[in-house]
Amino acid sequence: MTGSTTNRAWGGRFTEGPDAVMARINASIPFDKRLWRHDIAGSIAHARMLGETGILAAEDAQALVEGLSALAAKWEAEGVPEDPALEDIHMTVEAKLAEMIGPVAGRLHTARSRNDQVATSFRLWVRDAIDGHAQALVAFAHILIDRAEAEAQTIMPGFTHLQVAQPVTLGHHLMAYVEMLLRDIDRFRAARARLNFCPLGSAALAGTGFPIDRALTAQLLGFDAPTANSLDSVSDRDFALDYLMAATQCALHLSRLAEELVLWASQPFGFVTLPDAWSTGSSIMPQKRNPDAAELVRGHSGRILGLMTGLAVTMKGLPLAYSKDMQDDKEPLFEASDLLEVSLAAMAGMMADVTFMRERMREVAASGFSTATDLADWLVQAKGVPFREAHHLAGRAVRAAEAAGVGLAGLSADALAAIDPRLADAGSAPLSVEASVASRLSQGGTAPAAVREAVAAARRRLEALA
Ligand code: ARG
Repeated sequence: MTGSTTNRAWGGRFTEGPDAVMARINASIPFDKRLWRHDIAGSIAHARMLGETGILAAEDAQALVEGLSALAAKWEAEGVPEDPALEDIHMTVEAKLAEMIGPVAGRLHTARSRNDQVATSFRLWVRDAIDGHAQALVAFAHILIDRAEAEAQTIMPGFTHLQVAQPVTLGHHLMAYVEMLLRDIDRFRAARARLNFCPLGSAALAGTGFPIDRALTAQLLGFDAPTANSLDSVSDRDFALDYLMAATQCALHLSRLAEELVLWASQPFGFVTLPDAWSTGSSIMPQKRNPDAAELVRGHSGRILGLMTGLAVTMKGLPLAYSKDMQDDKEPLFEASDLLEVSLAAMAGMMADVTFMRERMREVAASGFSTATDLADWLVQAKGVPFREAHHLAGRAVRAAEAAGVGLAGLSADALAAIDPRLADAGSAPLSVEASVASRLSQGGTAPAAVREAVAAARRRLEALA
């Protein structure tokens, strides 16, 4: 089963067209048409450079630039045509340009190959994706910071091993995620800085004999400089993996917060209520309000990690320079970027709208003798007891309180003195959850005052990024 015509772009040495399955496996246009804006931008810069350097006559270069701009306007309105015979977005652009402006379109591919072309278009696409995520991350961080400020003195249980450990403030807990988001922004920005070099002009793999001006093309496309090695330029997909790794790390953070929302919205916790707009019902259980969006964010993170792993495996062991395996680099990034974009939007929306059940959080925070550490610390500070011994005495106080069915603050002076005379006036220790969190003023600690400082500092850090 062979197609009737050979490929217009490379069919010169062929007498037969491709088998239908060959055409199907080879075609990337169904997905790489998503690169069209970046591919046309790259071609416009290339055409301008060809004109500036005199490699093409000025009027030919101008015809190409104008034709490409007209093509972009047409596709903006009508969408990109998908002709499998044209294989990919690069050949589609050239063929449709030829339909518009005639044979001069055939001059566009002078001193260029699809190998440096796709590397350039894809870098430009990834750069835009990074900028979009960075913007969404900043907006999300501001939402968390605002909510943290409002909840700077809201008491909640802090956990280790998912066991109530010590009281913390909800503001402090939310600011922990702001730290993660700040690192995510940093990671994306670092990936952007590393990718911002222009491969165009590396041609197929060896460079070109035409007197091109790579610095000009790079500048026209907003790159910092041309890439240094033509072989590396056409075989390098580090920028795609850098992107996926940053996206994975970010998705893992979103997943942890999503998991907390799922837990907190459950009846045994009861720490939050998600508004109707962020809840779904059950087709059989009329009472249900399910946190589906949070669960999907948690699920999406696994997919993003898988996409990152997939591309790493694709690249592993490829000899220099270009191999067609590398055509498989695009779909994982497109998918990961869509998943991350909707995950960020959903998390930002949920965190903006979620209701915190302050009383319930405080109640749980006070359970489980969560201020036992404060009692031990008080013995150290007020009575000069070595910490290890203080830990032991506080443990005995917990045991006594448990036996008496009261909290630590409910033990009588007599009961405390019976454990150890140094505990007699432990009533003045910061055994309430409020006193406990207020005492934790160490830098980065959970005290409301420390949280307010962290809030101000995080706002300054975000402003410095702008
Ligand atoms: N569609 C191809 C890709 O995405 C473009 C590069 C093709 N280069 C080649 N030598 N066949 O990788």
